[in-house]
Amino acid sequence: MIKIVTLLASIILLFTFQSAHSAEAVGETRSATISPGSDHRQLVSMPDETSQLMRQDMLDHLSALNEIIGFLAANNLDAAADVAETRMGKSSMGKHRATGVGPGRFMPLEMRNIGWGMHESATELSDAAKEGNLKGAYSALQKVTTACVACHYSYRTR
Ligand code: HEC
Repeated sequence: MIKIVTLLASIILLFTFQSAHSAEAVGETRSATISPGSDHRQLVSMPDETSQLMRQDMLDHLSALNEIIGFLAANNLDAAADVAETRMGKSSMGKHRATGVGPGRFMPLEMRNIGWGMHESATELSDAAKEGNLKGAYSALQKVTTACVACHYSYRTR
């Protein structure tokens, strides 16, 4: 059931980004939507501790992404698979649960779904890379970055 919901959410997201993309093609720039004074992203309030955890995770996602791209470019699929699963995949989820201030519980449902989708896509990337499927790994990588974009273009914390 959750899978179906996640799938539907991804389809809707992909569709939304597709349309945003076409809008860009006709000359509208996306930065216009978040120019100063017109930030329509939803504000999500979190305790300071949670924000800090989130920032640490995010910096790690950013560098994991960089490592994955490097490994894919070097055709080192095993290393890419390992980084994707351990740092961003489903097995990396829930590590802050015991603190009681893990980010998930402060996120609106749709935001949490985007986060879920990111972890799922990282696992998909890892599985494809393990099978030696470079093309599959790249298309899952793009789903990962689509989740980064989707969340950052929809939500802010300050
Ligand atoms: C589910 C939502 C969500 C997803 C998915 C997401 N982010 Fe974030 N990200 C956030 C939020 C919220 C913050 C702000 C945290 C704060 O400062 O309170 C943030 C902050 C960041 C920051 C700033 C860290 C700093 O130094 O303050 C970076 C960089 C970042 N994200 C990169 C990424 C990358 C790369 C991805 C994809 C691999 C990603 N994010 C996916 C929600 C998300």
